[in-house]
Amino acid sequence: MYIGIIGSGAMGSGIAQVAATAGHEVILFDNRQEALEQARENLRKILDKLVEKGRLSSEEAASILGRHTFASEMQALEPCVLVIEAIVEDLDVKKSVFRQLESIVARDAILATNTSSLSIASIAASCDHPERVIGLHFFNPAPVMKLVEIIPALQTDPALPGKLQQWMTEWGKYPVVAKDTPGFIVNRIARSFYSESIRLLEEGLGTMEEIDTALKEVGGFRMGPFELMDFIGHDVNYAVTESVWTACYFEPRYQPSFTQRRLVDAGWLGRKSGRGFYDYRHTSTSESPIKPVDSEKQRRLAERVIVMLINEAADALYYQIASRDDIDQAMTLGVNYPKGLLRWADEWGIATCESRMNRLFNNYHDPRYRCSPLLRSLAQNGERFYPEENI
Ligand code: NAI
Repeated sequence: MYIGIIGSGAMGSGIAQVAATAGHEVILFDNRQEALEQARENLRKILDKLVEKGRLSSEEAASILGRHTFASEMQALEPCVLVIEAIVEDLDVKKSVFRQLESIVARDAILATNTSSLSIASIAASCDHPERVIGLHFFNPAPVMKLVEIIPALQTDPALPGKLQQWMTEWGKYPVVAKDTPGFIVNRIARSFYSESIRLLEEGLGTMEEIDTALKEVGGFRMGPFELMDFIGHDVNYAVTESVWTACYFEPRYQPSFTQRRLVDAGWLGRKSGRGFYDYRHTSTSESPIKPVDSEKQRRLAERVIVMLINEAADALYYQIASRDDIDQAMTLGVNYPKGLLRWADEWGIATCESRMNRLFNNYHDPRYRCSPLLRSLAQNGERFYPEENI
């Protein structure tokens, strides 16, 4: 069975490796020959490393590489039963690629997009047979990250999400289903991790070292928000925030900040440019400077960010963006959160979460701090997200 991938950049080449490792013949198409050569070279290095570490035998590595075809013409995708597009994040370019693709593949081939932020419905609308179009959102690096968000558009055949769920499971992934809304699950809920931390910094409630330490030591996150934004790159992180905010009709919870905007303006993009929130020019790039912080302050800083994340997760459930279990799995598997946010809410107590949100709202009178209706009603009824579990 042939799987087609369009775009051999960071995501496309990773997804190709996943599909080939699952035993499929993969046709990787890119319109730049250099990109294909680079992808082939990178794959060879990755496979060599896996062999060195004993994770693959050299025969397995050779057959994974052998199942890749690198193609510079889209026509090569003709035999594919599933094509996953991972090209530049530009709606017009994606639409034109989907139109062209439809004229090449079989009538029943499934056409998926790896877009992080565009509407699946508008990509599907460019096709004659929109019912076969779906979002299939992998996380970077695709061979390592378990999560895949499956996003049916309004037009998608209702049988398709289930079929892809089964397929992704066979590829060793953990699929979750999300509504076609800005940021899907992960990129929507994760916004608060960054934006609330920046608020704390802007209000002078903590330094970035203190906030990073608090979220790691109290929250159990692998990286603090400022370290993580520096790692992702402010150009990328700011663009996602702005895109989710704009697409959600300027929802105040997703509002971008001048603090991050100015970093982008200055070209201080994070680790990749040597400087972002932290200055990496004179320190080792493998560690950022962290100073000890008093524990009561750490707790307050971390709790404010975490309750905003919980509120966001509750709202995603309330608006039926995804199921309870999918929301919790998405945040642990897509961005390595230490635990599911809805389970976290149960552990803290729903009434505690509600009162923390109310306290923030009463203090700021800013709609970004409004409590999710779901959190409020659970608190009023003494209910939990996981009533079947004893905590
Ligand atoms: P990239 O810039 O690394 O790779 C894009 C590749 O597409 C390039 O090799 C380019 O030559 C090729 N390309 C561009 N236009 C083309 C066309 N018309 N026909 C054929 N090939 C074409 O980009 P990256 O990071 O791999 O992202 C690809 C997609 O995946 C985007 O939609 C992005 O939003 C999404 N995505 C990115 C993630 C990330 O962390 N980088 C995570 C999840 C989704």
